[in-house]
Amino acid sequence: MQIFIDSGNLDKIKQLNDLGVIDGVTTNPTLVSKENKPFRQLIKEICQIVDGPVSAETVSPDFEGIMKEAVELSRIHKNVIVKIVNTPQGLKAVKECTRKGIRTNVTLTFSAMQALLAAKAGATYVSPFVGRLDDINEDGMQLIRDIKQIYSNYGFSTKILVASVRSIDHVLESAKIGADVATCPAEIIEKMFLHPLTDAGIKRFLDD
Ligand code: E4P
Repeated sequence: MQIFIDSGNLDKIKQLNDLGVIDGVTTNPTLVSKENKPFRQLIKEICQIVDGPVSAETVSPDFEGIMKEAVELSRIHKNVIVKIVNTPQGLKAVKECTRKGIRTNVTLTFSAMQALLAAKAGATYVSPFVGRLDDINEDGMQLIRDIKQIYSNYGFSTKILVASVRSIDHVLESAKIGADVATCPAEIIEKMFLHPLTDAGIKRFLDD
């Protein structure tokens, strides 16, 4: 399973990329707004750090606006994946992007039917938001199981990118289900390295 960092913070991205654990990056307008940099410049700099897919989100609600942004964003760097919201206009744009060879990540996906439509539109990635489903007492990870089954029933090539990851358990379950990618905040990736018995073991070896 690939691990992407869900962040726009260049220091964090660089720090974890240097450890060799990052396969790609996802951003969204909220994450970008926390950094003091123009959006496109930020995406360009992220692409210079990480040699892997970097998702950059469109914000237009209509097909024409999304397409204009998609073409511009895809020209920033060959690794840019255009993130498009899972709406009828968005999926129309995904289909057109697929035709033009622009890779896409269909975001704000909350149901298996939305994921089915994203795959039929030719999305490169689909981003189901597990944490936000858990927040409203739904089962985020069940959505990943459902999408995995549907995509394998029909051999869709759209990759399942588990998003809105809030815990190590989300990552563990994603790996057990066979999701293609989990995009995680830096704190979650940092926690993946840790086990108290590793620390205790190091101390005992050094003492001895
Ligand atoms: C995914 O691409 C999103 O950027 C992100 O995972 C959303 O996470 P949140 O629900 O914690 O905001």
